[in-house]
Amino acid sequence: MSASLMIPTLKLNDGHSIPSLGLGTANTNNLKEGEYRKIFKEAVSVGYRHFDTAWVYANQKEIGAGLREILVEGNLQRDDFFITTKVWNTFHKKENVLANCQTSLSELQLNYVDLLLMHFPMGWKECGTDFMLKDENGKCINSDVDYLETWQGLEECHKNGWAHSIGVSNFNKDQLKRLLENCKIKPTVNQVETHPYLVHQELIDFCKQNDIIIEAFGPIGAPYDKPLLGLKLDPNHVKLLDNPVIAGIAKKHGKSNAQILLRWGIQRGTVVIPKTVTKSRMIENLEVVSFQLDDNEMKEITQLNCNWRAYPMD
Ligand SMILES: NC(=O)c1ccc[n+]([C@@H]2O[C@H](COP(=O)([O-])OP(=O)(O)OC[C@H]3O[C@@H](n4cnc5c(N)ncnc54)[C@H](OP(=O)(O)O)[C@@H]3O)[C@@H](O)[C@H]2O)c1
Repeated sequence: MSASLMIPTLKLNDGHSIPSLGLGTANTNNLKEGEYRKIFKEAVSVGYRHFDTAWVYANQKEIGAGLREILVEGNLQRDDFFITTKVWNTFHKKENVLANCQTSLSELQLNYVDLLLMHFPMGWKECGTDFMLKDENGKCINSDVDYLETWQGLEECHKNGWAHSIGVSNFNKDQLKRLLENCKIKPTVNQVETHPYLVHQELIDFCKQNDIIIEAFGPIGAPYDKPLLGLKLDPNHVKLLDNPVIAGIAKKHGKSNAQILLRWGIQRGTVVIPKTVTKSRMIENLEVVSFQLDDNEMKEITQLNCNWRAYPMD
């Protein structure tokens, strides 16, 4: 049986299902044109069916081209895949949400996505196809579009059949509460940064009470070669991936540190979307369905929480 068939799924509050592990596709701007299409096809060949994309990742055309080639080959069908995209911050006006969703569908060469997310609750000033407009001090210029209006746009995308499920990303508890009090369709997921250094238990409990699935981004602590967003790291910071508690548990199970982190994420009921462009790591990350952490190990890992963020947000 291929690994993709063994990936457990979680039920969304609208009746659809989401695989608990998918491939993250962000931060690939360093690649040459055409390379990500090959990487995407490689991921499918080793068993990935769930892909987390976004307009702002600027690689949807390559994913779309790769996916089209696979579908034309005829061994896999559209409904074998679970594809997520996200509405970017500069498209928060209702009509722009619809336009941005259509752009993503066209880039992905799809009639619908499985999941459409609002990438962030805050909107930014419109700026065409640029991803951000800055003021004279280099600060991002916000827009005053309320995320409730943006959500109405996502609801319309769903009604039009362009997205089977809709959800949010980077929402805190208060923002979610306000959305729940004012929406026609409940969000199915909230995609946030969470891993053992950022456990987010209160948010996770709130989402559970409201039947909203948490998708964990940065699930292995986003261990990029350079700190993300040009941030300076504390010199005493131990990378999550190198943490000795994780390494100890990994040794006991004969697994890699990354596998322990992903297993912890799945076992606590979140969907994990690790990103890798490396084939051996794609396989390694998929193979987390074959073992279990016990309650003590789960607790020990959870106790590593220190509210550290790879992606600090204002
Ligand atoms: N909604 C949002 O605002 C938001 C924000 C950030 C991310 N995301 C989503 O979440 C996904 C994952 O987050 P992320 O990319 O920030 O962090 P991540 O998945 O925690 O980490 C990715 C990094 O880990 C490396 N890696 C992957 N598997 C590994 C393994 N088994 N052993 C050692 N290193 C490994 C990758 O290297 P290589 O690629 O070089 O192999 C890459 O440098 C993104 O790709 C994106 O889809 C969403």
